[in-house]
Amino acid sequence: MKLLTLDSADLTGKKVFLRVDYNVVNNGEVTDEFRVRSSLPTIEYLLEKDCSIILASHNGRPDGKVVDSMSLRPVAKLLPKLLNRDVIFVDNCVGSEVENEAKYLRTGDILLLENLRFHKGEEDNDKNFAKNLADLAEWYIDDAFAAVHRAHASIVGIPKLLPHAAGLLLEREYNTLSELMKTPAKPYTAVIGGAKISDKIEVLNELLKHVNALLIGGAMANTFLAALGNNMQASLVEKDSFADAKKIISAAKRRKVRLLLPSDVVVALDIDGKKGLRTTKVDQLRPKEIALDLGPSTMDSFNEVIAGSKTVFWNGTLGRAEVANFAKASESLAHAMISSDAKTIIGGGDTAAYIDNVGLHSHFSFVSTGGGASLELLSGKKLPGIEVLMKK
Ligand code: ADP
Ligand code: 3PG
Ligand code: MG
Repeated sequence: MKLLTLDSADLTGKKVFLRVDYNVVNNGEVTDEFRVRSSLPTIEYLLEKDCSIILASHNGRPDGKVVDSMSLRPVAKLLPKLLNRDVIFVDNCVGSEVENEAKYLRTGDILLLENLRFHKGEEDNDKNFAKNLADLAEWYIDDAFAAVHRAHASIVGIPKLLPHAAGLLLEREYNTLSELMKTPAKPYTAVIGGAKISDKIEVLNELLKHVNALLIGGAMANTFLAALGNNMQASLVEKDSFADAKKIISAAKRRKVRLLLPSDVVVALDIDGKKGLRTTKVDQLRPKEIALDLGPSTMDSFNEVIAGSKTVFWNGTLGRAEVANFAKASESLAHAMISSDAKTIIGGGDTAAYIDNVGLHSHFSFVSTGGGASLELLSGKKLPGIEVLMKK
């Protein structure tokens, strides 16, 4: 099966619904320009084909309700600067105002819709919601690689109703990561951190079938450490994932995969590290302490594994890397990956944004915009948003 791509699509002069992943706004600010910049080649391609474009994305997890801080308006302010042309913004993604704006779009016009997840129909993959979105346009192009693991209305519903194809970003990400999955040079190490614990822990079992070493950091590591009986005090921990964590530990043993968990962590009494900042062994946290980064001994052992690897995939920052106090482990890992001889792949909105912000992007073999999506793809799972874009 092959992906339907832009070169197979007759798009000249068409009104295109372009699904992008602008899950980049935190508290009213764009914190990840990399994802927005990554969407530009497809937009520019469509403009060259005299299309008009309706851009749509989710942002955050508002659970079917309007949450002002999760509005896509900040992206509507950024896009004109990057594209050098106006972008119209409507504060809904369905309804009469949207239909009106969409109807009168002319060649070269760009309309950005409000957060799709302000409607429950998006995550429920509701047929009517998908139809309302599909009715706005003549073609559907999906460039939201980072969301292809979600069977949501704007990802799997619309392509059932409109002619469709993958955008340039999605195509490149899919091809690069699928190739990596087929032939990773060994030893192959995966480093998984971040905060989307229950989402990601499920696929770690699959990932164990492919890797030689699995290094766990971030809030993900807290859950593993707590499952093993450490008191992680006020750290972010998902109790519901303890059983999964234990299963992964025994599966790694069975498969002879080297599994590394932190031996020391950086803790504080508040999430910005203004009070009580210190490094401690993982079994010696004091009441109210929050583990927010990995400690230096842990990084020594992680980096030793990296130095001996031929392929390294990293998804999820190792600490709360938005704050300098807790970006040290991520920085140390990034440099270890750069100095190794390994092919280095980074995945994830927050992880890629961190690498981009510290200016290290060009030193890696590939930086994917997808976090959960790249992890699921590399674990060998079928992704609903890819399946619908395959030539039948
Ligand atoms: P990605 O977007 O790269 O796929 P995630 O969304 O899973 O990664 O996780 C990134 C987030 O994880 C960041 O916002 C970071 O602050 C958070 N994080 C990492 N480690 C910790 C920790 N120990 N405690 C709380 N949050 C953490
Ligand atoms: C991401 O940032 O990984 C994607 O935008 C998917 O977001 P989600 O995990 O909230 O579905
Ligand atoms: Mg993220």
